[in-house]
Amino acid sequence: MNLDEIYRETILDHNQSPRNYGHLDHPTKVVGLLNPTCGDQIQLELLLQDGKIQDIRFSGQGCSISMASASMMTEAIKGKTIEEALALTSNFKNFVTGGTSQIPLGDLEALHGVSQFPSRVKCATLAHNAFEKAMAEPSE
Ligand code: FES
Ligand code: FES
Repeated sequence: MNLDEIYRETILDHNQSPRNYGHLDHPTKVVGLLNPTCGDQIQLELLLQDGKIQDIRFSGQGCSISMASASMMTEAIKGKTIEEALALTSNFKNFVTGGTSQIPLGDLEALHGVSQFPSRVKCATLAHNAFEKAMAEPSE
């Protein structure tokens, strides 16, 4: 198996068994974001406590790239501090537009090929942009 096949398998695996898909009983923050290029939408539910992402779920409809990326992101940021999570989303966005990441991205690295397809970058970054939007909104 070469690297590309491993990456393909990783994306397929997140599509077939998305991690953290669904809803939280008592989220402290809920955010939705639309990908205007296709009309697909993602929703994130977060349980924030002591500056950490104690729990996270995502739901919505989208292409396989957007769903895999959301699944990978939830896995990568669960249990992290908000600062660590924001560092991850910003490094991922840099990585997926052809730049480099300063930190390990875990399964998200499987999405490196997306940088060659600008229309797909919006798909791959939908969940990450939703998370950043949630963090930019004031808490109740
Ligand atoms: Fe998102 Fe084609 S996969 S525009
Ligand atoms: Fe809609 Fe990818 S085509 S999120």
